[in-house]
Amino acid sequence: MQQPGVRFGGQARLHPRRYLAGLAEAISLLGGRIYEDSDVREFHDDPRVVGANGAVVSCGDVVIATHTPLAGLGGSAGTALLQTRLAAYTTYAVAGHVAPGTVPDALWWDTADPYHYLRIDRRRDADVVILGGEDHKTGQQADPEACHRRLEQQLIGLCPDVQIAHRWSGQVIETPDGLPYIGRTAEHEYTATGYGGNGLTFGTLAGMMIADIIAGRGHTWAGLFEIDRAVPAAGVWSYVKENADYPYYLVRDRLSGAAESVRDLAVGDGRVIERSGTKVAAFRDDAGRIVLRSAVCTHLGCVVRWNAAARTWDCPCHGSRFTPDGDVLAGPAVTPLPPVD
Ligand code: FES
Repeated sequence: MQQPGVRFGGQARLHPRRYLAGLAEAISLLGGRIYEDSDVREFHDDPRVVGANGAVVSCGDVVIATHTPLAGLGGSAGTALLQTRLAAYTTYAVAGHVAPGTVPDALWWDTADPYHYLRIDRRRDADVVILGGEDHKTGQQADPEACHRRLEQQLIGLCPDVQIAHRWSGQVIETPDGLPYIGRTAEHEYTATGYGGNGLTFGTLAGMMIADIIAGRGHTWAGLFEIDRAVPAAGVWSYVKENADYPYYLVRDRLSGAAESVRDLAVGDGRVIERSGTKVAAFRDDAGRIVLRSAVCTHLGCVVRWNAAARTWDCPCHGSRFTPDGDVLAGPAVTPLPPVD
């Protein structure tokens, strides 16, 4: 059945890795340095420095563009308040090969909730078609594998000859009004987050805006994206709903029962078990060994859940994610899940 749609003309497409490589090269050419795998843990204002991996970096201004904001120069109270206006969602994608020309060269998306998008990546010998969506609040989907399965079935429905070759998932941060937060969070500190899956566009915008603001030029759109803007009436319900997760899951999962044994836990699988009245995250690694970590999220104490699709421990309250070994993959938690004997 044909349905009406809206078409946006004059769109551009760019290769994200090449774009980032170009940006990194430009930073180096201008005398900047990039440090990867640097875990910033300390912020000090006098003198203004940040501490990471045992080193100290002095700076004039700090930009926190860490997906979930860290507590920086402005302290933890302001950061905690900002985090109540952010919601972490897990998103899925599947991709497969189709004969050239099967799908028109465009990015398509629907207005369902959760929404879906379809796009094409032209290769020399075949087209790769990518279908994504099935978003849900992180840690709140009992069967994440089912999201991949649904996408695969839909892709086969759209392109019956597709050869599905890839599947993956990621995390996006949403805000109550759908626009990111880009602006000042403290004296000489700026934050950019809440891109809602549009990081290439909004990340670029954030870089341009914050550079202008630091240089004293200001920016015409600063008011639109400022951190402490009021939540519009249409977004108030979404704000309340997103924040109801914390007390709900905190109490529910602490009180609910859990399995006591890991005997039938398959290789590569995880499960929350109960040991002497405490919740423990149990994972069986590829060598068959059981890895035990506390199942209590180090952010604000909710109980994490096993995500079989991504092999991670996910928290249903504010979306922190941990590896099977308990290391932090995504905040707001900054401390690993501690080992359990
Ligand atoms: S309690 Fe907040 S992310 Fe886990």
